[in-house]
Amino acid sequence: MEVEKVFHMKKGVGHTSYARNSLLQRAIITQAGPIIDESTRQVYDTLRPECLMMADMGCSSGPTALLAVSRMIDVIEDASRSINRQFPQFGVFLNDLPGNDFNTLFSMLPSFEQAAEEGNENRLRLCSVSGIPKSFYGRVFPDKFLHFVHCSNCVHWLSQVPSGLVNKNGEALNKGNICIAKTSPPEIYIAYYAQFKRDFTLFLRSRSREIVFGGGMVLVILGSIDSHDPDLVYELFGSTLHDMVLEGLIEEEKLDNFNLPLYSPTVDEVRKLVEVEGSFALNKLETITVDWGVDTSQNLDTQAEFVAKTLRAVIEPLLTIAFGHAVMDDLFLLFETRVKARMAEKRSEYVNIVVSLTKKE
Ligand SMILES: C[S@@+](CC[C@H](N)C(=O)[O-])C[C@H]1O[C@@H](n2cnc3c(N)ncnc32)[C@H](O)[C@@H]1O
Repeated sequence: MEVEKVFHMKKGVGHTSYARNSLLQRAIITQAGPIIDESTRQVYDTLRPECLMMADMGCSSGPTALLAVSRMIDVIEDASRSINRQFPQFGVFLNDLPGNDFNTLFSMLPSFEQAAEEGNENRLRLCSVSGIPKSFYGRVFPDKFLHFVHCSNCVHWLSQVPSGLVNKNGEALNKGNICIAKTSPPEIYIAYYAQFKRDFTLFLRSRSREIVFGGGMVLVILGSIDSHDPDLVYELFGSTLHDMVLEGLIEEEKLDNFNLPLYSPTVDEVRKLVEVEGSFALNKLETITVDWGVDTSQNLDTQAEFVAKTLRAVIEPLLTIAFGHAVMDDLFLLFETRVKARMAEKRSEYVNIVVSLTKKE
């Protein structure tokens, strides 16, 4: 599977689309918001550009694409007002893989511009928004072009499924799982970490060329407390696929050979890779947790349905390639019952790593 050619969130605005099912990601970005605000303010205070170039990398096709950007514009507006300085112009670059549903994203721009315009009639003409379809694992922008990069819920997605997930005879090593799980042998962790290290280092190196000195970057990454046993929602999803195999609805061989291009690092792994790459000063490195169901005041049925819909909007396109479209409804229904059982048993949370960086001289 050529991940960078086929990976995308569920397109459109239908009931299973990413645009309609990204409230989890909205909650995560909102929780990381104070760090995004602080970093934006710092960049503006240090550089005071007349035209601030910012990128949302891995923006996808939902309302979250413009969430951080709107926040950053608000922060800069406050900052410029507080020092009696003219409000800058903005170049906003929305980047994602070429398979992303940029049409749906662009159709949301008028309402974003309308909201941005409120209270400041000049804003609309001061903000120019473009889409940039290219993998962020590699160069996307010219040298010293950007002042700020935001990238949430993305860099745990790898550029490819790691090699090394089969033995010398070509037999699958991660049978019955779709990512690092409790029953995965040690080779699986080694292969996944090696791929993450390569990809994340390339991401940092590419951005380090594109961001001006003193420019900032905030990343929010799906992380884990123990990356050998990340205890992800995807592990539970893998065991649901295994149940489908036992029921004869999915071929065992297909599951054995399917692995997600996903690695959830620990805080220490992220710190070490940032330090070794060396281009960025580390301002903040924190974890935030969000419950799988986000709104825990809802009953377990509602929360489990929410978890299943959230995950479906993210991974259904990849799953359809591997297992076909016909099993999707049954698969996600079964997953919903498994989520409910798990949530009844113990509290289940996403661990998210928030990293705030400044490009060094
Ligand atoms: C879960 S979505 C997050 C979208 C948005 N940032 C948010 O927080 O709601 C992950 C996004 O990362 C994008 N992505 C994954 N790998 C990428 C790559 N190598 N280059 C650019 N975008 C990538 C996916 O296409 C997808 O739109």
